[in-house]
Amino acid sequence: MDLITTLEGLVPELEKGLDQASSLEELENLRVDFLGRKGRLAQVMGRLPQLPPQERPAVGQAANSVKERCNALFEARKHVLEAGREAAALARFDASLPGRAPWQGSLHPTTLITEEICDIFKRLGFDVASGPEVEIDHYNFEALNMPPEHPARDMQDTLYITDTVLMRTHTSPVQVRTMLARRPPVAVVVPGKVYRRDSDLTHTPMFHQIEGLLVDQDVSMAHLRGTLTAFVRAVFGGDTQVRFRPSFFPFTEPSAEVDISCCICGGKGHVNGEPCRVCKTTGWVEILGCGMVDPAVFAAVGYPEDVSGFAFGLGVERVAMLKYGIGDLRMFFENDVRFLGQFA
Ligand code: DAH
Repeated sequence: MDLITTLEGLVPELEKGLDQASSLEELENLRVDFLGRKGRLAQVMGRLPQLPPQERPAVGQAANSVKERCNALFEARKHVLEAGREAAALARFDASLPGRAPWQGSLHPTTLITEEICDIFKRLGFDVASGPEVEIDHYNFEALNMPPEHPARDMQDTLYITDTVLMRTHTSPVQVRTMLARRPPVAVVVPGKVYRRDSDLTHTPMFHQIEGLLVDQDVSMAHLRGTLTAFVRAVFGGDTQVRFRPSFFPFTEPSAEVDISCCICGGKGHVNGEPCRVCKTTGWVEILGCGMVDPAVFAAVGYPEDVSGFAFGLGVERVAMLKYGIGDLRMFFENDVRFLGQFA
């Protein structure tokens, strides 16, 4: 049999093999067998040198043509088998099942409350400022009227890094930084993390505060009261009552602590006849500290004597606990998604 006939004979043989090949693996074996480097086509071509030179071009042409047709046959069969494999996979898959919703995170309640509070103050004309969490003693204490060894420093258990560098114990140092950078009038709120050497059921070594500072001419306690009342009612509702209790902070004079009517029992002290656990039946809960900026603080930042201002500082977790009725401070730091997901 001459070589061209042998070559042509490969095509129908391959067609038969392809009909029987039922998987992509079998198909690949068949391809190696026919078209591989030592396959049947290659074997026939190996005999080419034995032919007289004038016959070789015709055989070469026939070989190319057979190779092309074989390749086309393989491709066609491959498509069929691939489509079959896909259909089989789909048959095992119930397309009528409901989809699986992608897991979606939500903002942390601390973030939510921080944003809500900052938005309220932005509407009242305040800017939002920030400062470093690693602070120098001078800004955290001294410029706020707490000289070294002053007993007022005992109010805040401090985490020192060196003798003069510490983790800020409150957001109040940003008052100093703001006043050193800007001339009055200024109105800023400062959200951020603060650190204290303190850890028990109701204290965590890190928590969040929002500081407020307003400085202008002729600022009075009445402005402070009006501003804070508007803020409290925006967060806790328009019926919320506000009261100021005299207090002490080294950087304000006079100073006050602000209580709001308890948002759990509505100020009644009892819920469904049971004593209210949040306000301990007093009907009031403390929410922040505030006061008129002490002249010593203005002096420390080089402000003129004719300015006046108020400042306040509040704990973000505390506001969130009161607003959402959360009983345990640790919830904010455990990152339990069952808790966090409720604020989505
Ligand atoms: N810095 C105080 C604290 O952490 C809170 C505070 C009280 C801030 C009165 C103020 C203020 O700006 O006027 O306990």
